Amino acid sequence: MRARGGNAMDDMKVRQAFLPTGQTPRFQHYLQYFPTSFYLRRHAPRNVPRFAFEYADTGAGDDVGVRHNWEALDNVKIVPRYGVTSVLPPVGVELFGTKYAAPIGVAPMGGPAIVWPGADVLMAKAAQAARIPYTLGVAGGATIEQIAAVAPDVFWLQLYRFAKNDHKIGFDLIDRAQRANVKVLTMTLDTPVRTTRSRETYAGLGREFHVTPRMFREMIVRPKWLLALLRHGYPRFATMAQYAGGRGGKFGTNDVIRFARDEMGGAFLWDEVARYRDRWKGPMTIKGILHPADAEKAVSLGIEGIWVSNHGGRQIEALVPTIDALPAIAAAVGKKATILLDSGIRSGQDVMRSLALGADAAFVGKSFLWALGALGDDGPGQLIDLYIDELRASLGQIGAQSPAEARNAKVLHPGRIEF
Ligand SMILES: Cc1cc2nc3c(=O)[nH]c(=O)nc-3n(C[C@H](O)[C@H](O)[C@H](O)COP(=O)(O)O)c2cc1C
Repeated sequence: MRARGGNAMDDMKVRQAFLPTGQTPRFQHYLQYFPTSFYLRRHAPRNVPRFAFEYADTGAGDDVGVRHNWEALDNVKIVPRYGVTSVLPPVGVELFGTKYAAPIGVAPMGGPAIVWPGADVLMAKAAQAARIPYTLGVAGGATIEQIAAVAPDVFWLQLYRFAKNDHKIGFDLIDRAQRANVKVLTMTLDTPVRTTRSRETYAGLGREFHVTPRMFREMIVRPKWLLALLRHGYPRFATMAQYAGGRGGKFGTNDVIRFARDEMGGAFLWDEVARYRDRWKGPMTIKGILHPADAEKAVSLGIEGIWVSNHGGRQIEALVPTIDALPAIAAAVGKKATILLDSGIRSGQDVMRSLALGADAAFVGKSFLWALGALGDDGPGQLIDLYIDELRASLGQIGAQSPAEARNAKVLHPGRIEF
């Protein structure tokens, strides 16, 4: 009923306030053109320079690992139960003591601003607006302090190893994170070596960043990307820049790349995890776990979250898909730790598959970059709404009335690994 003195505009506002997430007119408008993330991926190269799209989309080697992640998720099938509910279930969850709107998060990414200028802040703002976790990559394009200002309620931080001078930089990063009220600290363990991603290498992104004439030509034919560059500025490794000595700005990018190469020296070792655990006061997760024994090791050191990941297929092609390793890891530590999963998530259905097999939440990397490429600044918000909408429909379809109830489902999972 129309409120007295109201008008059509007020009516619409009131209606929107009561509509579930994802049902706003803007969401519906984009949905016509991008009904699934597949369409976002297909459209993104029209707006993003080729070298930048290749950086976002590539896997290690010839992409076999990326394909395996997708196929493994596609092969997980659920037996539904009917007659129990006819409404879309709520999908709010609590992770590490904080309530979030959905068990879906933004995975940490280095250099996303190459793909879409301003990407880090745009994803963080969208995550804050939707109340889902946002993880800043330490090799990302915004500082810890910038993200704390725009995403104070959902801010997680990922660390790589900076071992030189007895972890002076790593500990300084932790102290900055503590001051910025970062909610969860994540240490990445799955990059002990450097590997080659063929598509980005072939596109001109070598060990250092130099704009070749070909890359320049690719940029000038992408006006939306150029406008975003004007609006948001040149991509920088902002959090690391202050340690690199260089300015980290237009002329300092390679200073930071050289610094990272010289100072990082592989991924964290377990004794280092223990030292960081001692220093960091909040909850901590270990990212890149694929073996239940490694999950148990992490939990024995006081780690609260196990992040099952193969880096989205970007390290080597021969790693097992995360969804296939998940059940054994959940069985080993699921009662003692929060289980997160990423690598290959392309829909709310994939999130449901992860929940059904023991994850508490699923994280998303590449498809946020596809969304930015296809829809620019609106991309991250649209993708979050799309995945939440799909998750609610998927849970409703199998008869689960909450994310936790997905675990009751009977699952056909031919790839499941027995350890
Ligand atoms: C462009 C790009 C950069 C990434 N950089 C990092 C990083 O700096 N640190 C990290 O822990 N993971 C990084 N990842 C891996 C993601 O955190 C995540 O594990 C992966 O993207 C999930 O798989 P998906 O892309 O299939 O969703 C990166 C992924 C992409 C696509």
